Amino acid sequence: MSSTSSAGVRGPGSPTVSQLSGVSSGRHRPPTFSAVPRPRGRDLSAPELETFVAELADRPELWVHLVQHDSTQRHYEELLRDEHLTAWLICWLEDHDTGFHDHDVSSGAVAVVSGAVREERLVIEGPSRDRTLCAGETFHFSPSDIHRVTHAGSGPAVSLHVYSPPLLRMGAYVIGEDGLLGRRPMSDLEELRQLERPPAS
Ligand SMILES: [Fe+2]
Repeated sequence: MSSTSSAGVRGPGSPTVSQLSGVSSGRHRPPTFSAVPRPRGRDLSAPELETFVAELADRPELWVHLVQHDSTQRHYEELLRDEHLTAWLICWLEDHDTGFHDHDVSSGAVAVVSGAVREERLVIEGPSRDRTLCAGETFHFSPSDIHRVTHAGSGPAVSLHVYSPPLLRMGAYVIGEDGLLGRRPMSDLEELRQLERPPAS
């Protein structure tokens, strides 16, 4: 595991989507993302993002109504975008795969709120670096980290992703016809495409 990455586990009461499907969004005062605590007026560090995404995971009334699954591609919803932060909800089914990518200048953090996803680091030398994260678990990464996230387990998965500064550009790692690994700049929305799998390390 990279020194810039960590994984955490939230409390045993961490909700799942199936448990949350009946949550009301509130009749009189609709919940807002401003109620979720975070540092203001500056970008967040990767550990701060992990704290924030864990708080967001514990506020399902903000996002559970947006969960839906599409077998042909990951379904995603942008939850929040401001000067310092981007937040996405992503819904995963079998075979959904980001391909290897970096996040340009943004740090990030992920909370799995239902099902499981697998994070794999791009390894040139040494043993493979991958881990499966289940509902209630979180992890973070720095701009220099290169990873790939895929659906794991047997059922649908849902995860929350936050980035700071806001995610605008990314880098996709693909194998060219010459067999060389290259980095292709792309916009954040292109991240949802499935990319060619690099060779096993
Ligand atoms: Fe990513």
